[in-house]
Amino acid sequence: MRGEARINTNRLKSFPKRILVHNPKGGVGKTVVAALATEWFLYRGLTVNLIDADGNHSSQEWIDNNRDEGREIVTPIDPDIEIVDTKGAPGSAAAFLRASDLILTPFQLYGYDLSEVIEMFDSLPIDLRRSLGFIPNRVRAMGLTCEQRDGFDQIENLIRQEGTGQLLPGLVDRVAVYPNLFNGSRVNFFEQHAGNGTSVVNAQQEASHLFKEVERLLGLGPRAPR
Ligand SMILES: Nc1ncnc2c1ncn2[C@@H]1O[C@H](COP(=O)(O)OP(=O)(O)O)[C@@H](O)[C@H]1O
Ligand SMILES: [Mg+2]
Repeated sequence: MRGEARINTNRLKSFPKRILVHNPKGGVGKTVVAALATEWFLYRGLTVNLIDADGNHSSQEWIDNNRDEGREIVTPIDPDIEIVDTKGAPGSAAAFLRASDLILTPFQLYGYDLSEVIEMFDSLPIDLRRSLGFIPNRVRAMGLTCEQRDGFDQIENLIRQEGTGQLLPGLVDRVAVYPNLFNGSRVNFFEQHAGNGTSVVNAQQEASHLFKEVERLLGLGPRAPR
């Protein structure tokens, strides 16, 4: 992918912008979203600190794997963006909630996952619900299944009823792309060149769509021209 203008950091009013990635359930894509968000903001010319608050240390392993590839991705001191990747357990984000500008909640569009996520949303104080963005993950590339469509409807209804929170662009199920991300790479995910129509290019486009919305929610200035 190419052609994205860099963010002018002079426009950022307060540093760092803090993103919390949370869902009380494991295996829903928190670390994928945290890693992609890190890659996106690096790609946009910002410095990032990715904080691994999960005892499984998947984010830390990804940081280490990139370092082994010769790429240092984290800036622990005075970063522009701070991203906290949490553990998939109820209450694991409590310490970070108040300090966050934005809570990103990847989830899968299945009944059981949804009920946990809805319960988590309901348990948040109202002011924090406003800064929560739901990210449907592992959406079927060929279009939604009936169950996924129902899941979308449930989240949309919840947001409408409560009058707060937002549904962000989702990520497609791309087994050829996301598991490999964790191996680390010499090249930023968004700068990797792949042929048109390949899963990598599709994933880059889907993720850039998502993170432009994330930038908007963080108040990072007008959208950059394509
Ligand atoms: N959109 C996706 N497409 C394909 N595989 C995915 C996707 N999102 C997550 N995965 C895979 O699912 C597994 C769990 O994701 P992960 O981000 O580690 O979840 P969590 O941090 O919530 O426990 C990982 O192996 C990851 O590569
Ligand atoms: Mg994780």
